[in-house]
Amino acid sequence: MRTMTCIEDLRQAARRQVPRAFFDYVESGSYAEQTLNANRADLEAVKLRQRILVDVSHRSTRATILGEPASLPLALAPVGLCGMQHGDGEILACRAAQEADIPFCLSTMSICSIEDVAAAVDKPFWFQLYVMKDRGFVRALIERAAAAKCSALLLTVDLQVLGQRHRDIKNGMTIPPELRIRNFIDIASKPRWALGIARAKRRTFGNLAGHIGGMDDVNSLSQWVAGQFDETLSWKDVEWIASLWRGKLILKGILDVEDARTAVKTGAAALVVSNHGGRQLDGAPSSIAALPPIVEAVGSSIEVLFDGGVRSGQDIMRAIALGARACLSGRAYIYGLGAGGQAGVARAIEIMKNELSVSMALTGVTGIDKIDRSVIAAV
Ligand code: GLV
Repeated sequence: MRTMTCIEDLRQAARRQVPRAFFDYVESGSYAEQTLNANRADLEAVKLRQRILVDVSHRSTRATILGEPASLPLALAPVGLCGMQHGDGEILACRAAQEADIPFCLSTMSICSIEDVAAAVDKPFWFQLYVMKDRGFVRALIERAAAAKCSALLLTVDLQVLGQRHRDIKNGMTIPPELRIRNFIDIASKPRWALGIARAKRRTFGNLAGHIGGMDDVNSLSQWVAGQFDETLSWKDVEWIASLWRGKLILKGILDVEDARTAVKTGAAALVVSNHGGRQLDGAPSSIAALPPIVEAVGSSIEVLFDGGVRSGQDIMRAIALGARACLSGRAYIYGLGAGGQAGVARAIEIMKNELSVSMALTGVTGIDKIDRSVIAAV
């Protein structure tokens, strides 16, 4: 892993090791991928202000996220099918996050279940919730997350319908999945991946299997999920979830100031400024463009987190400078997972942490609380 010196190295390694359908699933954005690309381009356009001859020998990347200490202002974002990037992927990623002292968020659409992960790690993790039509199942999921002592419930609010990702259709990542000859040939050329999956605890949606009328296999479960997207979802449902969940609630998928103001009224502890990694509304603004007005409107009333295009410590610094409390990152650690399992995720976190520390030194700041607009260059 030492020769992996940046997230792009991990991405290239993951591309070689993970079957194309799963690699592309993570990589893709919706439609023309304008928003996906804008997330990266707009972050890169935020230039950092080089400062010199400041004593930065005592600096720290330590941060507080939802009241809990973390070694840097970063959490691992929920990613569906994480356990298809590497066998037992969710457990490995959670362990790497906990060893690095940052939060991990498990997706509803994970392969390892809430209970699998809880049994395999020492500390609490966050759980991401999709509100499905079957409210009884949603209630049960919330109860399972509470029983597993999850430390926050992260509710995804931008997925009443699924954005179309062309590559998923072309690769047969459809519902039900279409296993084409091409997929079999691809999988046969990835023996290390196949062995890891063969040895893994599960190969289906762990949170669903056995809980939906006895359905277990990927085909029937993915068909069930496809019928469960709820277009009626509204703020009333958020209230209902807030009444069921006693712990900290995070609303993920807010891009608009008016929605951010409404989010504050729900009593949620945090919101995530997010366009779902460019996977939902194509043509929406980049997350980093949406961040400053939201921070200005609600930043003193709710913790504002950020995701969308974070691939480096410099990106974390940019988002913090523009008012985010912390970042979430999905693809960056998923590349690490595909490239090298737990060690790969640990490496992804370490790379971003080192980059953040060096960027702090070269912008002349010694603590996360000192990162503000003064580190942005006026160009
Ligand atoms: C689901 O959240 C996805 O982006 O595929």
